[in-house]
Amino acid sequence: MKQKISRVYLNGDYVDANEAKVSAFDRGFIFGDGVYEVIPVYGGRPFRLPQHLSRLKASLAAIMIANPLTDAQWTGIIDELVQDAGKTDQAIYLQVTRGAAPRDHAFPADTEPTVFAYSKPMTYPGPAEIENGVGAITTADIRWRRCDIKAIALLANVVLRQQAIAQGKAEAILVHDGHITEGAASNIFIVKDNVIYTAAKSEQILPGITRDLVVELAQQNDIDCREMSITEQQLRDADEVWLTSSMKEILPIVEIDGIRVGNGKRGPMHQRVFELLQAYKDDFRAGTVD
Ligand code: PDD
Repeated sequence: MKQKISRVYLNGDYVDANEAKVSAFDRGFIFGDGVYEVIPVYGGRPFRLPQHLSRLKASLAAIMIANPLTDAQWTGIIDELVQDAGKTDQAIYLQVTRGAAPRDHAFPADTEPTVFAYSKPMTYPGPAEIENGVGAITTADIRWRRCDIKAIALLANVVLRQQAIAQGKAEAILVHDGHITEGAASNIFIVKDNVIYTAAKSEQILPGITRDLVVELAQQNDIDCREMSITEQQLRDADEVWLTSSMKEILPIVEIDGIRVGNGKRGPMHQRVFELLQAYKDDFRAGTVD
């Protein structure tokens, strides 16, 4: 596969993307035994980097891989990769796997983790997508019970999101025991009577960095925002539904399973919180907030 990305970081070296090679016995390849992060970069500055590095550490600890690098080393790699594209908005991908070893489920005694990172241009949802919103389906959350770990083993997420795409929809909203957990690749928010709701953090959802920022921005601006369980019925009765992620920011979902959400249009609360996020990003680019 030819990559548009020029250089990648692999195990201590910066190499041409097309030359980067890992062992076919890497446990990331064999078992999906690894974790990852996706970090937006605005105006050359990695966004919410301490939060991303702390989630990476939590994911590594949860699967018992010793963090191979210090925060300063991670930051150095990110800064180096960011330089290639200068001040344009980018997305950094970081991945750590347990490394190469003869195939055995149990951890090998002493493998070197494989560390891989690259930057790619940021691809935002277009203005039409933001203005008109997107469609979603609901489907059973068939994933494992530690969805708080940002694991590279994403088979269920891949299949579930593909179900949505095959139906011409943008996301699959996952339902567990009559409650909404999250999207296949996003967190989910609903708005009802001017109150914002999103699922409380648990082992059933990824603690999204965008999710946390939306909650923070709401709190700072006296918008009632509650982190609690959302039932499937509440989802269907909501005035507005949004998905959030580092790549999609905050996107209105205006139709679920073929039925309109509220009046089927982007809602006023989305407009407000989306503007708060854009203002925050502008301040971040200007270096006035961290
Ligand atoms: N995914 N939940 C899941 C299952 C996700 O995969 C993601 C993001 C999120 C949102 O997290 P954040 O706001 O930190 O991006 C929630 C990334 C973008 C991906 O896999 O590409």
